[in-house]
Amino acid sequence: MRKVMMAVVVSAVISVGGAFAADGKAIFQSKGCAACHNPTVDTVGPSLKKIAKAYAGKEKELIEFLKGHGKAIVDPAKYPIMQPQLNQLKSLSEEEIKALAEYILSVK
Ligand code: HEC
Repeated sequence: MRKVMMAVVVSAVISVGGAFAADGKAIFQSKGCAACHNPTVDTVGPSLKKIAKAYAGKEKELIEFLKGHGKAIVDPAKYPIMQPQLNQLKSLSEEEIKALAEYILSVK
């Protein structure tokens, strides 16, 4: 019983810790981005792999895009589908946007 209690306490501590450090993947999923973006296969939107390739070495530009200031470079003809999604990100902090960009760029 004691062991079980310890396990519960430990896992609670880990998940609380995770909530403080911005987790790009969790943000990506909680904001509904995954509905149109698969890591490796193009679906409604381009795959994250394709986006990561287009933005390789351009984290700053990707952050600008996510803030709604950038121009689409991956599939500009479909930007009207993507553009309204950026509203989901308006409430994010600078740190959260950066974590999100880093997650996208990490997909290979
Ligand atoms: C309704 C479907 C849909 C959803 C939901 C969606 N996207 Fe997209 N996304 C697209 C489409 C279509 C494109 C291709 C157009 C383009 O390149 O802008 C795209 C392109 C992108 C690009 C490449 C931009 C470029 O320079 O071309 C990024 C980055 C991106 N999406 C991030 C996100 C993030 C982050 C979210 C979650 C807030 C999200 N998307 C949610 C459909 C979607």
